[in-house]
Amino acid sequence: MAMIFSDKIMTPRLRMRRLVEQDLPLLVDWSNSEIAHGEYLTPDRIDGRDGRDNIVNGAYWHKQNRLFLIELKNDQPIGTLHYWFRPERRNCAVMAVKIADPQQRNKGYGTEAQKNLIIQLFQRLRVESVEMYTDINNRPQQRCLIKLGFELVETLSYDDHQVKRVGHLFRIDAFTFANNPVYR
Ligand SMILES: CC(C)(COP(=O)(O)OP(=O)(O)OC[C@H]1O[C@@H](n2cnc3c(N)ncnc32)[C@H](O)[C@@H]1OP(=O)(O)O)[C@@H](O)C(=O)NCCC(=O)NCCS
Repeated sequence: MAMIFSDKIMTPRLRMRRLVEQDLPLLVDWSNSEIAHGEYLTPDRIDGRDGRDNIVNGAYWHKQNRLFLIELKNDQPIGTLHYWFRPERRNCAVMAVKIADPQQRNKGYGTEAQKNLIIQLFQRLRVESVEMYTDINNRPQQRCLIKLGFELVETLSYDDHQVKRVGHLFRIDAFTFANNPVYR
């Protein structure tokens, strides 16, 4: 039987945890910031009221949909990591990551965060696959995905908060996960 998540995931350099109400100002700041999203993601622009409701009523934290705050071990928040299941494919998780503080990019944190959530998704939730969409020009994210054993599935147009993008869909399945030394 699949086990549930604890409220946080610890990695060698990071803590990834459930959001609490005190995190709301930061979440709203990032959500409305082009800098926090970088060139290849569109700000999702949540407002304070929706954000608070989502935190308080658990919409960001249930089995089908979890939003983690990524922090350094000195408590500095650096970004978010999100997974969800599409209603029509319950055994395939979709992930999205954002290292919102540009100074913290290119230090391996994005790879470390994604790797550890992927381990939880396969080992605890027993998913069959994990998928990620990336803008076709998002070389840093594609580099992370290759390092983590993802394979290119298709190139497609997708809608990113009302912005049409051309991107790649990447996937890793349970067999590849089990056989990739990066996860040992
Ligand atoms: C994409 C993102 C999550 C990557 O996180 P990160 O912590 O910077 O990633 P890492 O440091 O673990 O790895 C980045 C890799 O990309 C490489 N890279 C960086 N810029 C690059 C470029 N312009 N071209 C090619 N490779 C590049 C780095 O060298 C590194 O690879 P390496 O370990 O082989 O040297 C982060 O840049 C980010 O949050 N960007 C804004 C939001 C975003 O685009 N999210 C992804 C949505 S799908």
